[in-house]
Amino acid sequence: MGQIDQSLLDLETPHILLDQDRLAANIHLIQNIGDTRGVNVRPHIKTHKCLELARQQIDAGAVGITSSKPDEALVFINNGIRSVTVAYPLVVASKLDRLIAGARSNDVDLRLIVDSEVGVKAIAQAAEQHRKQISIFLKIDVGLHRCGLKEDAPGLVGLVQKVIQEPCLTFVGLLSHAGHTYGADDADAARKVTQEECEIMMRVRKKLEANGIEVPEVSVGSTPGTLVSDSYDGITEIRPGNYIFMDRMPLRLKIIELNQIALSVLATVVSQNSDYFIVDAGSKTLSSDQGAHGMPGMEGFGLAYPADRFEDEDREMIVVRLSEEHGFVARKDFDLATGSKVRLVPNHSCVVANLLDTYAVLKDGQVTEQWDVVARGQVH
Ligand SMILES: Cc1ncc(COP(=O)(O)O)c(C=O)c1O
Repeated sequence: MGQIDQSLLDLETPHILLDQDRLAANIHLIQNIGDTRGVNVRPHIKTHKCLELARQQIDAGAVGITSSKPDEALVFINNGIRSVTVAYPLVVASKLDRLIAGARSNDVDLRLIVDSEVGVKAIAQAAEQHRKQISIFLKIDVGLHRCGLKEDAPGLVGLVQKVIQEPCLTFVGLLSHAGHTYGADDADAARKVTQEECEIMMRVRKKLEANGIEVPEVSVGSTPGTLVSDSYDGITEIRPGNYIFMDRMPLRLKIIELNQIALSVLATVVSQNSDYFIVDAGSKTLSSDQGAHGMPGMEGFGLAYPADRFEDEDREMIVVRLSEEHGFVARKDFDLATGSKVRLVPNHSCVVANLLDTYAVLKDGQVTEQWDVVARGQVH
């Protein structure tokens, strides 16, 4: 039997654990991909919402951060991050007002996306009011069918021309997110989705250039796409987020190994019956998300191991059901004492990070620090 460090036993559960060496390895893995392919790395911080981790990404060479929501972005803007893309369509004046005010007073290079005339007008109005120049990306739908214009959308060139006509907006290029890589069956299928993403972006760039519009930047990004792509011709920036933690999704695609996953959840067996160990991490810790963007293909809600046999295949179990405060871990042919600790590897680490206030940071199996999930709850 392995040993659990006392510092882990002292943690109340459920608690998120971050393995510091794996975080560093993941940060360098992606930065290295960016550096060797000649593309900027602008990590999406919706994954970790944590200043310490954003600083590590910047220190490793990231050009700035990507965020989803204005208030999330403002946490980083107010704490020294100097270049921020909010990769989310912003159309509400009050949110734009405080975001642009914050970017202006901190002299931040603020980059926003549009996919509608409503968005262009709303951003232009707020930018003018604060006399702040804003960089604008046109969001392209490359197959996720969430936000963005399809490559053949009739109003595509016209919308970019509207951006160009606004004195406080600078059109800087195209942005996409191929989140449907998570629904792929394997690495080859994920690679194909990523190739298609790049091809679509190149066709849109050509169309704009044929209309006399320069496209200096092309920003793509997802963790599977970054890990499987073999070429980034014409792409200037990647925006992966999940990679800093990883989870069961890239593991399912067989593009990472289990020992690359930096986030786990420490939980306690609080009860048991003939079918299940009941642990104190339910949907309020693991979330009910079985995978990003509701993509199918995952069994259960996470892997579970006795804490002293973490990542030991012989002791691997599955969290098969959740209620709010309880996780149902399907029993195998070994016993676990009620009151003992388990470690869970969630399906989707980004949503887990959003549900708890702090990370316990492990170095050589010992809790050395606690970091705040400081932008947690900043959903406006
Ligand atoms: C617009 C956008 N860019 C980048 C990302 C990062 O993707 P991933 O977490 O797969 O790395 C996301 C994730 O949802 C996103 O929505």
